[in-house]
Amino acid sequence: MRFDVFSLLPETLRPYLNASILEKAAARGLIEVHLHNIRDYTHDRHHTTDDTPYGGGGGMVMKPEPVFEAVETVLGSPPPCPVILLTPQGRLFDQKIASELASHPQIALISGRYEGFDERIRQHLATDEISIGDYVLTGGELPALMVIDALSRLVPGVLGDPTGAEDDSHASGLLEYPHYTRPPEFRGWKVPEVLLSGDHAKVDAWRREQSLRRTLAKRPDMLAKAGLSEADKRLLEKIQNQINKE
Ligand code: ADE
Repeated sequence: MRFDVFSLLPETLRPYLNASILEKAAARGLIEVHLHNIRDYTHDRHHTTDDTPYGGGGGMVMKPEPVFEAVETVLGSPPPCPVILLTPQGRLFDQKIASELASHPQIALISGRYEGFDERIRQHLATDEISIGDYVLTGGELPALMVIDALSRLVPGVLGDPTGAEDDSHASGLLEYPHYTRPPEFRGWKVPEVLLSGDHAKVDAWRREQSLRRTLAKRPDMLAKAGLSEADKRLLEKIQNQINKE
């Protein structure tokens, strides 16, 4: 999968890209990340990328010309892939959006600085807008890295274990069950007996129940959309009744 990031601070992404699973993925040719500095596509002496807003008010606005020129020079016009603006006004990024975007062989990400983008970038260049949460950052570089990271681990081969991404919290619509590794007892805290039993059906049933319990306790909002089986629903009812009695 190929990512093209357009930013005023593209080098801020490099250290993370070069020091993680993503570096290995790139070395193996599974992902390609191309970083582009929007400032390289200015033509005035001061390499201006922002200007004051029409109508007055505070803050600076990202000028349209360098952003359009950067994206169109690198990708052509119109670009052959989704062009995603990182902005707190975008759709809230989640695992479903990650899967949807990971189905494309290539995406472009535009990271802003300053108060905002000239609206024409949003209307005539971007094909999608993503927010990584209901808070405002100083720029879209961290959001771009988060999107690259979440999508890359869905690219076949990037994770060592081919089923690695399937059990993830959120992939199934539920939070993930608890994990344990050796030792079987640490400071007196024991690993649940069932996990040591070697009985795979029992382990699967325990994990499913734990996923349901956790999701009910921490993220009950996810249950409505989780696509639960009839058995899950019965189990959930049982858990709910137990909790009510406690
Ligand atoms: N840029 C600034 N804040 C952001 C957010 N929450 N999501 C995406 N891009 C942003």
